[in-house]
Amino acid sequence: MSQLSAVPANSPAAQLHARIENASAIVGVVGLGYVGLPLLAAFHAAGFKVIGFDKDNRKIKALHRGENYLKHLGQDLVSRMRKEGPDRFDATADFTRLGECDAVLSCVPTPLGAHLEPDLSYVDGSAADIAATLRPGQLIVLESSTYPRTTREIMLPKFENKGMVLGETVFVAYSPERENPGSKDFSTATIPKLVGGLDPVSGELAALLYRKAIKAEVVHVETAEVAEAAKLLENIYRAVNIALVNEMKIVLDAMGIDVWQVIEAAKTKPFGFQAFYPGPGLGGHCIPIDPYYLTWKAREYGHPTRFIELSGEINRGMPQFVVNKIALALNDAGKSVKNSRVLVLGLAYKPDVDDVRESPSFELIEKLEHLGAHVDYHDPHVPETHEMRHYDVDKESVELTADAVAGYDCVVIATNHSSTDWAMVAEKAQLIVDTRNAMHGFGGNVVKA
Ligand SMILES: NC(=O)c1ccc[n+]([C@@H]2O[C@H](COP(=O)([O-])OP(=O)(O)OC[C@H]3O[C@@H](n4cnc5c(N)ncnc54)[C@H](O)[C@@H]3O)[C@@H](O)[C@H]2O)c1
Repeated sequence: MSQLSAVPANSPAAQLHARIENASAIVGVVGLGYVGLPLLAAFHAAGFKVIGFDKDNRKIKALHRGENYLKHLGQDLVSRMRKEGPDRFDATADFTRLGECDAVLSCVPTPLGAHLEPDLSYVDGSAADIAATLRPGQLIVLESSTYPRTTREIMLPKFENKGMVLGETVFVAYSPERENPGSKDFSTATIPKLVGGLDPVSGELAALLYRKAIKAEVVHVETAEVAEAAKLLENIYRAVNIALVNEMKIVLDAMGIDVWQVIEAAKTKPFGFQAFYPGPGLGGHCIPIDPYYLTWKAREYGHPTRFIELSGEINRGMPQFVVNKIALALNDAGKSVKNSRVLVLGLAYKPDVDDVRESPSFELIEKLEHLGAHVDYHDPHVPETHEMRHYDVDKESVELTADAVAGYDCVVIATNHSSTDWAMVAEKAQLIVDTRNAMHGFGGNVVKA
């Protein structure tokens, strides 16, 4: 039975319910990155007034100029919202304005610390900002990927300290983002959305809100913890299966068998097998990071997470496997890594996006330079690099001309952007080390790695 239908008329829950139903609720999104910006746009498209909040003033200024800094979302995403005026869309670094919002959706980063421990400082800071202006009747939803119980243990106490009562004066839920940047098949509004409340009324209000903006199914699960754990299961499933094919790659490579052909063959089975593909290592803000959130939390309950640790070990070893293959391939050509000229194709962690977070290309570059190679990169989506949390690679993307390609001792394919002229690379490169099977069907002097 719906708990919401039983709340007293004029209670904060009933008032928020009405405001969501008639789309007069103001929706605030905190953290306007790969997850927050498209989410803001989805609620705007559903007819809500939206306010975006970010600590990064450059993002706020860009939004006020009508600029979209996330190119894969389309050039006119922000200008379209701006056209409808400040009554429908605003962006600000003034967090005292959080109190204007009926619903606040927090999409801040959840990275790892130096020892693979969760860094919840952004979630904690965001909850403190929300608590500072909290008023009765607000719905707060955490979207960041994190371990089960984060919403209850990290966020809720900050709201209760302000005298709020869960399910009566404040409503708190968790709804994981399943964004797949660069995907042509799915967008924020067309990916089914999980929603779980810290209590039944919060869950119902949050599910109601998301149903207004998400065209796909909104799956209302029983608790926030189920939603938090489901998000981790999805990402751990990927990390473990990618590790499995990476291990198969290493073994089959030693046997002289092409793992890519093996996957294509196995894929013909119509049930019980899902294809995952090997690569130079894990990248992005989710798969290399989120599994360790569970590992950390599991220790509190006295349980090791062996699948996660093992798959992390294998996936983290892939850049070294690739570097070894490069060294052997150069050796076969009578060259050493030292003083060789190497071109890395693709800096982003996956095709057709500009996201370089945790990209294994950086590790490849650093390892090759450490061995004395002269390394350049080409990436049409990443014109230059800047210092990042783990890497300090200061380079500009070189042009991918036939002459340039011919001048390198080795071309390493780290990311298979669809705009790359693979036929030209096949024809001109002296030696190609391909971690993505990008050269399939193009010929060339290719070593798969
Ligand atoms: N990128 C993805 O594909 C993806 C997919 C699913 C889930 N997630 C999860 O979503 C969350 C956000 O990821 P993202 O990729 O959007 O990160 P992002 O780095 O692209 O964006 C985060 C934004 O939050 C801002 N920020 C940081 N601290 C803030 C604060 N206290 N208040 C307001 N703004 C703040 C940053 O300036 C940045 O603009 C993470 O937990 C991530 O694991 C990401």
